[in-house]
Amino acid sequence: MIDSIAHLTIRRPDDWHLHLRDADVLRAVLPDTVSQFARAIIMPNLQPPITTTEQARAYRERILAALAPGEAGRVPAFEPLMTLYLTDHTQADEIRVAQTSGLIYGVKLYPAGATTHSAAGVTDLLGRCASVLEVMQALEMPLLVHGEVTDPQVDLFDREAVFIDRVMIPLRRAYPALKVVFEHLTTREGVQYVRDAQGPVAATITAHHLLYNRNALFQGGLRPHWYCLPVLKREVHRQALLEAASSGHSRFFLGTDSAPHPRGAKEQDCGCAGCYTARHAMALYATAFDSVGRLDQLEAFASLNGPAFYGLSPNSDMLSLERVDDLVPQQLAMGSDVLVPLAAGTSLPWRICAA
Ligand code: NCD
Ligand code: ZN
Repeated sequence: MIDSIAHLTIRRPDDWHLHLRDADVLRAVLPDTVSQFARAIIMPNLQPPITTTEQARAYRERILAALAPGEAGRVPAFEPLMTLYLTDHTQADEIRVAQTSGLIYGVKLYPAGATTHSAAGVTDLLGRCASVLEVMQALEMPLLVHGEVTDPQVDLFDREAVFIDRVMIPLRRAYPALKVVFEHLTTREGVQYVRDAQGPVAATITAHHLLYNRNALFQGGLRPHWYCLPVLKREVHRQALLEAASSGHSRFFLGTDSAPHPRGAKEQDCGCAGCYTARHAMALYATAFDSVGRLDQLEAFASLNGPAFYGLSPNSDMLSLERVDDLVPQQLAMGSDVLVPLAAGTSLPWRICAA
């Protein structure tokens, strides 16, 4: 019986949405991802953002240089899949350079002001970025979308659903062959849109949106470490996401959106958005899939559907998890600072086996 298994071995997964930051923070958080994932789509929202292939190439070198040798002195195999940050001023030629480089796997749309470090984002996608979108469609360069409107008149909890009507549908009508990833999907409406849409559309789903609903933000008081964007939604949405992720449907795949912030930046009167999940990522996802008896679908979601969408081969080596209670530490070191991981102080029923 799948629900009584104590071990699970799957092809090594990839993380299709990850924030690594830079310098000390990069060096502190990278081992958490590398211990589980072979590749990751690296988000470009540094300050200043990564808007050119040359900047992405240099950032990729810094990531590779930060890979620490493991036991036996070997540097672990890890491939950072770089992205560019789309702005109102991105040129179509930059997309051609990106494609030719072979290093860039997507271009990220942050609606200006939607989330952490998005001030340089796009103000009017169809109005300002037409020539770029045209070239992306022709070159099959994926557009990775933070799918929330920023209109202050729209309720925070409705911003993804409204984005579908105001941006996603017109965008895909204008560019029907454009590859689009609806990043960190959070709603039933989003699931339905991605399932039913014509053409090359997919979505990433985080572990936190599979495990928690918005009550987690207010459990016994204000809980800043559960605050991310898009924000956690109602239970009906969590259930729709869990059903989609564990259905085996090829359009849904793993993207942690793990986003490190120092403890003090989250525990203050205007705390940052972002949950740190990289250290326990696969344990969190296994816990979510196990909760609905669908561990048999974890491999498709974590290791197969993402590479298929991006036109890459699945990894050839394996990752094992075991059903053993594992306490999430209260905090983790991050350079000269500390960060608080999601679910700190609680016990998860799964952990990865030592390599
Ligand atoms: C991300 C971050 O901190 O960079 N924060 C978040 O809440 N997810 C940005 C993002 O992906 O929206
Ligand atoms: Zn993100």
